[in-house]
Amino acid sequence: MPPPAQLPYAGGGTSRVRAEEMGLPWALPVAGALVRPWAPDDLPSLVQHANNPNVARQLRDRFPHPYEPAHGRGFLSWLARQQTPTVWAISVEGRGVGGIGLEVGQDVERESAEVGYWLGEPFWGRGIATAALDAVTARAFRLFDLSRIFAVPFAGNAASIRVLEKAGYVREGHLHRSAIKDGVIVDQYLYARYR
Ligand SMILES: CC(C)(COP(=O)(O)OP(=O)(O)OC[C@H]1O[C@@H](n2cnc3c(N)ncnc32)[C@H](O)[C@@H]1OP(=O)(O)O)[C@@H](O)C(=O)NCCC(=O)NCCS
Repeated sequence: MPPPAQLPYAGGGTSRVRAEEMGLPWALPVAGALVRPWAPDDLPSLVQHANNPNVARQLRDRFPHPYEPAHGRGFLSWLARQQTPTVWAISVEGRGVGGIGLEVGQDVERESAEVGYWLGEPFWGRGIATAALDAVTARAFRLFDLSRIFAVPFAGNAASIRVLEKAGYVREGHLHRSAIKDGVIVDQYLYARYR
């Protein structure tokens, strides 16, 4: 089984969040975008847009860089085998050009989920990520036993922080020296939205 390494959040083990239950695809109120399941023919656009240092530098190291076609194939075939997929494509004009996903916690944190997202750079600044995050968050709270959805952006990721705040997430904490990225120790912020 290939490592679930190709997207920031690639499945939550005991997740009860199912793509089909989520009623995908959802039309987003921006730029003809949709949130929908990843499909095999998204491979070229996935690789094209994921293979970007400006995307990868803001994500966990399990999102590889460079992002090779083999990474995309491995991700899509891994995802196709998941019984409870929790990552979805952000699609613009029919092509999967970004991803958004939930990783549901376990045990006492089973009603809490971490959200992660990325978008191809040509589509930045149109409100697409904000719309996707708001839609996924609202839909997940409506349909599932989640009381909290949270995110942990790097403190220097101004665009993602803005996305979170526009989507109604509040800053709960400043995690000092909590991550290492590209050999540098960095801070992260903790953001959450509640049911
Ligand atoms: C973060 C990301 C998903 C945002 O996608 P997007 O569709 O461009 O986001 P939106 O258009 O909905 O909103 C972006 C907001 O950030 C703002 N912004 C962008 N760059 C900024 C910067 N350097 N400083 C301050 N604000 C910035 C934009 O102006 C916009 O805010 P506005 O609507 O008030 O003008 C995209 O940049 C991305 O994929 N980045 C790499 C991966 C990543 O960071 N993922 C999140 C990990 S926590």
